[in-house]
Amino acid sequence: MRKHIVGNWKMNGSVALLREVLDQVRDEAFAADVSVCVPFPYLSEVQQRLSSSQIKVGAQDVSEYDDGAYTGEVSARMLKDVGSRLAIVGHSERRRYFGESDAAVASKLARLLEVGLYGIYCVGETLAERDAGRAEARIEAQLAPLHALLARGATASQFCIAYEPVWAIGTGRAASGEQVAVMHEFIKRCLGPAFAVLYGGSVKAGNASALLTLPGVDGVLVGGASLDAKEFSGICRAAGC
Ligand code: 13P
Repeated sequence: MRKHIVGNWKMNGSVALLREVLDQVRDEAFAADVSVCVPFPYLSEVQQRLSSSQIKVGAQDVSEYDDGAYTGEVSARMLKDVGSRLAIVGHSERRRYFGESDAAVASKLARLLEVGLYGIYCVGETLAERDAGRAEARIEAQLAPLHALLARGATASQFCIAYEPVWAIGTGRAASGEQVAVMHEFIKRCLGPAFAVLYGGSVKAGNASALLTLPGVDGVLVGGASLDAKEFSGICRAAGC
């Protein structure tokens, strides 16, 4: 199965930077499914620049509501309207800084699926939770609201899980191969073996190959390194091995 490589630009970048990065990677023929998730204002620009590329454009969040009087929100329909193919939901930064609950994140995923966009549902434990031996319990709780969606017919072709341990994000300290393999196996046991599970947290060109060849790793979600064309294309190339 082709690996998924997803760049998450977070609240970084500019029109100038996205032109610089995308112009260097858009014509490469990667042996992986590659997407970039950019801030809302750049979605149309990126979609236009990638129109002849295999790289897909996605968003980093979506409203849990349908169109209406919700000032400041962006609906799944709007994302689709400007050419997005996917969106991340429930990133730990959204859970932490914006108080998103597991139930709200599951509603966001449901809105994406209703309009035919692919969802990346993020889960991950904090260091305190891991140290207390509660990592799997935390992940299980984050996955719990998805069972209602599965019962309503949602399938593994519509969304995947991104396992991003909070302590590995932006720290330069990726989880160990064993930690990743154990948690990916656990997630697949919770949801079913057909579900793709991506790893995120300090993925770079230098460690991508080791992470991508671990059992149960179907791709990676890349933060900081996706803002650098050389790093990002190095990660995408590592997925071809
Ligand atoms: P870094 O790759 O910068 O650690 O970020 C990971 C992440 O949060 C991707 O969503």
